[in-house]
Amino acid sequence: MCGIVGYVGDNQAAPFLLEGLSKLEYRGYDSAGIAVFDGKGIRVEKSVGRLAALRDKIKDNMPVGTIGIGHTRWATHGRPSDRNAHPHTDCSGDFVIVHNGIIENYLSLKEELIETGHDFKSETDTEVVAHLLEEVYNGDFVSSVREVLRRIEGSYSLVFMSKKHPEELICTKQDNPLVIGIGEGENFIASDIPAIIARTRRTYIMNDGELAVVTKDAIKITNRAGEPVTKKVFEVNWNAEAAEKGGYEHFMLKEIHEQPKAVRDTMSQRIAKDGKSIVMKELKWDADYLNSFRKVHMVACGTAYHAALVGKFYIERLARIPVEVDVASEFRYRQPIVDESTLLIVVSQSGETSDTLAALKESKRLGAKTLALTNVVGSSIAREADQVLYTWAGPEIAVASTKAYTTQIILFFMLALYMAELKGSQTPEAVESLIGKLKEIPAQIGETLSDVEPIKTFAKQYGFNEDVFYIGRSLDYEVALEGALKLKEISYIHAEAYAAGELKHGTLALIVEGVPVIALATQKSVYEKTLSNIKEVKARDAVVIGIAAQGNTDLEKYVDHVIYIPNTDELLIPILAVVPLQLLAYYAAITRGCDVDKPRNLAKSVTVE
Ligand code: G6P
Repeated sequence: MCGIVGYVGDNQAAPFLLEGLSKLEYRGYDSAGIAVFDGKGIRVEKSVGRLAALRDKIKDNMPVGTIGIGHTRWATHGRPSDRNAHPHTDCSGDFVIVHNGIIENYLSLKEELIETGHDFKSETDTEVVAHLLEEVYNGDFVSSVREVLRRIEGSYSLVFMSKKHPEELICTKQDNPLVIGIGEGENFIASDIPAIIARTRRTYIMNDGELAVVTKDAIKITNRAGEPVTKKVFEVNWNAEAAEKGGYEHFMLKEIHEQPKAVRDTMSQRIAKDGKSIVMKELKWDADYLNSFRKVHMVACGTAYHAALVGKFYIERLARIPVEVDVASEFRYRQPIVDESTLLIVVSQSGETSDTLAALKESKRLGAKTLALTNVVGSSIAREADQVLYTWAGPEIAVASTKAYTTQIILFFMLALYMAELKGSQTPEAVESLIGKLKEIPAQIGETLSDVEPIKTFAKQYGFNEDVFYIGRSLDYEVALEGALKLKEISYIHAEAYAAGELKHGTLALIVEGVPVIALATQKSVYEKTLSNIKEVKARDAVVIGIAAQGNTDLEKYVDHVIYIPNTDELLIPILAVVPLQLLAYYAAITRGCDVDKPRNLAKSVTVE
C-alpha cells in the first residue's frame, strides 16, 4: 500500500501534491516525494521519513510548475530510503512515475533492461516501469504506456508524466485503487478520495484496465482495448474523516474488508507460475540448510503469537519439524534451549515490539539462525533478523489486529509448504493440491464478508453479556484464542478460549444457563470429539453459536445458531473461520459504544517491556 497523487491545471501543483499526500499517509509513511515540471525539466524531490521531512526539505524552495505527481511510500521492495522513495525516473529523467502495488516480474525485466544499458538507482520493483517506458517509447505517449502495461505483471496504480508531453498525465490501475477528481481548469489524480475531497467532490472511480489521459481541461478514459469508456461521475458525499476510512465507520472494519486483497498480496510472487511449488526468493534455502535445524522456535506477542500457534501446526504437520512457541515476554526469562541448531522465527506486525525484539537479540546471542515475519519493511526486527519474510498487508492502523493475522497465517502456510518441498515430506501432488486451495482463499474471505447481517444480529443479542466462551479443538482452538482476544480488547467483554476437551477440567463450572459459547467445529478430523464437548455445554443450557464449513448441516441439530464459512482444506480453514469472529467482536463493540479503533489502555505498537 502506498499513496499516489497527480495534478494538472492552472494553479501551482506542489501545494496540492503535498496536501493530497498528507491525507494519504494512512497508506504509508516510509518516505515521500514529488515531481513537478518547471517548464524546462522535471524536478524530483524526495525524502525518507514522513511527509514532514519532505516539506522541511523544500519549504524554502518549492518546485514551481502546474503539472506534477507525488507519492507516500509503504515499502515492499527495498528498504525505506531516499533512493527507494518515489517518484522514479528513467535514465534521462524525461519519464517520471509513481506507483502503488507490486510489479511481480520486475526482476526479469530489470535484468533485461540492465543488459540494454539502463542504469538503475534504486532497489525497488517500480523503477523498471520508468526504464521500460524509456526503452519502448515511440513518440506516442499513450501507445508507449500501453506497451509497458502489456509487459508488466502484478498489481498497480500508476501515474506517468513526461517532459516530452508536459500538458498531460497518464494514469491506470490494476488491483489497486485510483480516482480522478474533476475540477475546473484543473484535474486531480489520487489513490483515494481523502486526497482530493477538499478540492472537488466530483470524481471518476477507475476500474481495472482503464487508462486515463488527464489534461487541465479534459479526462479521456479508455479501456484495455483502447476504446473510449463513458463513466458516471461519482459525487462524494462523505466527510473528510469518513473518506480516510474508505467510507467505513472504523479503520478496523476497513482492514477486515481489506483481507482478500491483503492475503492476495502476501501470496503474490510466492507461487510458481505452474502452481506446483512455493517460491521464497528471500530465503535461498536448500535441504542441507533446513536439515541443520533440530527444531524451530517461534516467539511473538498478542495476535502475532496466535498466528505463530497456527504456524507451529503447519510446520509440524507439513514439514514434520518440531516447533516450540513462546510469548516473547516469557521467553527470555526461562533460559530457553536455543542454539546453532535452532531456527528462531519472530512474528511481529509492526516489527517494533520490544519484547519480541529482545527475544530476537537474545536468540542471536545464543547462536540461533533468525527469521522475521513482519509487515513493516525496515523495522527494527526486520533489520535485526538474519532473514525476513514480509506479509505485504499494507499499514494496519486499528489497534486490534486483523489483516496482519490472516496474512501472517498465509505466510506461515507458504513457509511450511516450502519447507515440506525441501524436505520431501509431502508428495508433489499434495503440495500442488494445497496451493490450489490456497489460491481460492482471497475470494472465499470475500464470500465470508459478503453477508454480515446474521453476525450483527448475534452481536446485538449477546453484546451485553458479561462472559463469552470460545471453544474448539486442534486448529479451531488456536482460532478461538484469537476470537476471544478480539472480543476482549475492543468490546471489554470477558472472553475466554478453551481447548474444548479441557473444559471439563474446571471451566465447565462456569457454564450456566444463557452463557454464550462460540463453538468452532471446522476441523473434520476432530468433529465428533468437538460435538461431544458442545453437548456438554448445551446440557448446562449455554447458548451455542457454531462455526462450521458449508455443507455441515449436522451441527444445526446440536447448537442454537450456525455461522457457515466456505469449505476448504482443514489446514486453511482458520483464515476463513477468524473472519466472523473479527466481525462479531467489532459489532459487539459497536453495540456497547466502545472506541473500536483505540481501545482503552492499549497501543498499536508496544515498545516498552
Ligand atoms: C499490541 C497490539 C496487538 C499486537 C501486539 C503485537 O498489543 O495491540 O494487536 O498483536 O502488540 O504486535 P506486533 O506488532 O509485534 O505484531
